Amino acid sequence: MSLGASKAVVQVLCRPVTQTGYSEHLVNSSDLTLHSTFQVKCVKKRPPRHRHSIRCSSMLLSQLRRTHQLRPMGVSLVNYMNYSGSWFQTCKCQQSESASGITAGDGNGAWSVNNIETSNSVNNLANAKSILEFQDVQQLKQEKALTSKIANGTIPDSFSIEEEAWDLLRESIVHYCGSPIGTIAAKDPTSSNVLNYDQVFIRDFIPSGIAFLLKGEHDIVRNFILYTLQLQSWEKTMDCHSPGQGLMPASFKVRTVPLDGDDSATEEVLDPDFGEAAIGRVAPVDSGLWWIILLRAYGKCSGDLSVQERIDVQTGIKMILRLCLADGFDMFPTLLVTDGSCMIDRRMGIHGHPLEIQALFYSALLCAREMLTPEDGSADLIRALNNRLVALSFHIREYYWIDMKKLNEIYRYKTEEYSYDAVNKFNIYPDQISPWLVEWMPNKGGYLIGNLQPAHMDFRFFSLGNLWSVVNSLATMEQSHAILDLIEAKWSDLVAEMPFKICYPALEGQEWQIITGSDPKNTPWSYHNAGSWPTLLWQLTVACIKMNRPHIAAKAVEIAERRISRDKWPEYYDTKRSRFIGKQSRLFQTWSIAGYLVAKLLLTDPSKANILITEEDSELVNALITANPRGKRGRKNLKQTYIV
Ligand code: GLC
Repeated sequence: MSLGASKAVVQVLCRPVTQTGYSEHLVNSSDLTLHSTFQVKCVKKRPPRHRHSIRCSSMLLSQLRRTHQLRPMGVSLVNYMNYSGSWFQTCKCQQSESASGITAGDGNGAWSVNNIETSNSVNNLANAKSILEFQDVQQLKQEKALTSKIANGTIPDSFSIEEEAWDLLRESIVHYCGSPIGTIAAKDPTSSNVLNYDQVFIRDFIPSGIAFLLKGEHDIVRNFILYTLQLQSWEKTMDCHSPGQGLMPASFKVRTVPLDGDDSATEEVLDPDFGEAAIGRVAPVDSGLWWIILLRAYGKCSGDLSVQERIDVQTGIKMILRLCLADGFDMFPTLLVTDGSCMIDRRMGIHGHPLEIQALFYSALLCAREMLTPEDGSADLIRALNNRLVALSFHIREYYWIDMKKLNEIYRYKTEEYSYDAVNKFNIYPDQISPWLVEWMPNKGGYLIGNLQPAHMDFRFFSLGNLWSVVNSLATMEQSHAILDLIEAKWSDLVAEMPFKICYPALEGQEWQIITGSDPKNTPWSYHNAGSWPTLLWQLTVACIKMNRPHIAAKAVEIAERRISRDKWPEYYDTKRSRFIGKQSRLFQTWSIAGYLVAKLLLTDPSKANILITEEDSELVNALITANPRGKRGRKNLKQTYIV
């Protein structure tokens, strides 16, 4: 069969997506393969002269409109102080840094709230009082310095940055058949090599979508959800091989092409990339998981549950779940994936069971369980989903967790244990504990490691996986607090001059050569190799709000505001302390803009974070207690585990 011949094309005339949806009749939940071969097209008559005028007309217009200047200060200064005043009251920086450079050594992130606790715990009230007085003076000094910097324009005020961000976010909107359906990855006028940054990436759209939802603009998210669902059904092949049916694309592009057989008309076509064109040709495992998370957020925020209840949407959810829950050779409940299957989408030694994918997988399972409408045909799927939730949660909490105590246990591990009751189940050789980790692990705090394989623990700290495990309660309450403790304790490594390191530490020397394949884009402290990504601000904010510690996120946002707009919203920053705009970083990167906006919106109204948070489920906790395999190492007992 030729590759071309495998694609049946059905045209769908240009019209808005309706409540009932145009593909419903094509899909029924018992036959998941039916809606597998449709290409979405929108036909328009070509105007007689300007044949290409339809093409991206809205984007061209907005490009012309773009101004990168900051707005005048005035009123916005008052606004800034009003807003920031609320958390300045509770969060006082312990150190006497200047407002433009609150960067100190280890422990810089430890705000006075914690310091007060420490003082109280040693019952030295007099001492605590003088610390407070000292901090008050420092805070006043800081606020004064900040006010004058804002007033003289050295630092743009928060209000004008937000306004600029909204303008830029709106300019990044992509339309299809006249409706907004997504945002492009970057609109960098300084870069001649666009690569695929002119496409709508699924993962990149999530913060954009959340920002629009929080602003009450629901349509773009609804359209995005429904049109990407159409793409899930695409016939996808690479060199004659097709990946699983439920796969969502990494990105898509709206193309305007001449209509076959009609010279006077063009049509808009949605053209997805499932990884067959992506650098490295990796399937984006995270796309479908993010899609489910956004679908739930849409329902919770807009109150419109009709989208998640549609038959085609229900089928879409099930297709993603079936793909993820399919039996394989694996002994672990974690999802086995190739390198680069998520935000880090090129070789970085994260193949196997990377934390980020597990955290998103766990969220997707929880969100899907909430949204699936009960019907006879899905009982097996829901049973499998429940079993997986329990097993996954146990596995991550137990085997991925690391803190001083656990590290010391690993340090003393015996190896080569053959039996059902081995302590060192994965045969980890203690020599794997790298010297950096011995130094880096704080006394208070801990985190989930990046990956776990036989005889291999990837001890790097991966931010997204850790933050998202807090958001979705994959980490226990204690672990979640400990993750935030670690972030505070390691502020100068993880935040420094721009939040937030994608991972820590960087791979260097021979390790970099072997693990990245000498990737010149992933040199140490750059890009995925421990570069700093402003988009992570939004996940940090949701995690901090969930744990009732929003001041941590507020401080990170304040640090970002010092540079982000002036630096033109880079995709990422380089160097150990994130001092430089990334070597190959795009400017006007949409998810940097949207990530900042979501953080701001949520800090203003933290209750809205609920659309993203999933609280620990008591059913799951009970199941974990009864099914806990820790106390049942013998073979016989294991039979009962994981049944909810
Ligand atoms: C880079 C990032 C990826 C992102 C894409 C578009 O490839 O690694 O996570 O989705 O750019 O911004």
